[in-house]
Amino acid sequence: MIDLHDIRYLRIATPNLEQAVEFATRIVGLELVAREGKAAYFRSDRVEMRGDTRDHTLVYYEGDPSQHAVGFDLKRAEDFDTVAAALEAAGAPAREGSLAEAEQRRVKRVLFTRDPSGNALEIVARPYHSGQRGVLSRDAGVQEFSHIGLKSANPQRDEAFWTRVLNARVSEWVGELPFFRINTVHHSVVLFPSQQTGVQHINHQVEDHDDVMRSYYFLKQQGVKIIWGPGRHPVSTAMMLYFEGPDGMVYEYSVGVKHITPGMESTYRPRQFPFEPFSLCMWGSKPVMADFDASAKSAPANTPATQ
Ligand SMILES: [Fe+2]
Repeated sequence: MIDLHDIRYLRIATPNLEQAVEFATRIVGLELVAREGKAAYFRSDRVEMRGDTRDHTLVYYEGDPSQHAVGFDLKRAEDFDTVAAALEAAGAPAREGSLAEAEQRRVKRVLFTRDPSGNALEIVARPYHSGQRGVLSRDAGVQEFSHIGLKSANPQRDEAFWTRVLNARVSEWVGELPFFRINTVHHSVVLFPSQQTGVQHINHQVEDHDDVMRSYYFLKQQGVKIIWGPGRHPVSTAMMLYFEGPDGMVYEYSVGVKHITPGMESTYRPRQFPFEPFSLCMWGSKPVMADFDASAKSAPANTPATQ
């Protein structure tokens, strides 16, 4: 059985590494912890928030910007040898990475696979932690890398893969779009309808509501395009702000995401929200996102309306 513990990292290619480093540090506020060849590693975790600090949570490397991969670690490292077989049995070919590929990811072992939409997934064992406290490069209040939006050509089909093969649990649906949890955090992955593959948005949790509003004004002053918000998601109760980064990548700050604790698991039921604007933001803000038109009521998930 594949039992995921946490989302670990994102690896994103970019044709302009220096621009991406500048944005990740000066705008998002992440800590640049390493430069290796044509790759830059960023840390985001505050030990006070998580109780630990992941070695890194984001890597930008030089390459085709459509190349994204998301890493997850296993709850039990000793399960690693059974994961490839479980993926193969589910029709998802898997390849174990070399020692060099594992070291590049700061993990002991890594397995490469893809979801049915073709999104690159990396399942890792014994990922490195950092003993350092970490110093954020801007006072954005970033606490941790928390979740991603992932593009899906067919969210209903992909939901079956995430729940039956990767054993994620659905926390809510908005229309046909599932929000998946793999630990207590309300969602680590949410599927977005798209005919492309890759990461649709990158979420970092910030410390409080003031951080969201402080960043709203900061980003506007810096000329960064605001994509959505400030607003509040009814599904997770988080206050949020979305903005555009390099190569069209969407970044999100949010605070107050709901947790579903072990004590709640036996009685928790995912809620169904209709696909309409107030299911996405209880304050009425609307996203400006390709492939995602919140004003389109009852938009079929696999034939998205576009703006
Ligand atoms: Fe989000």
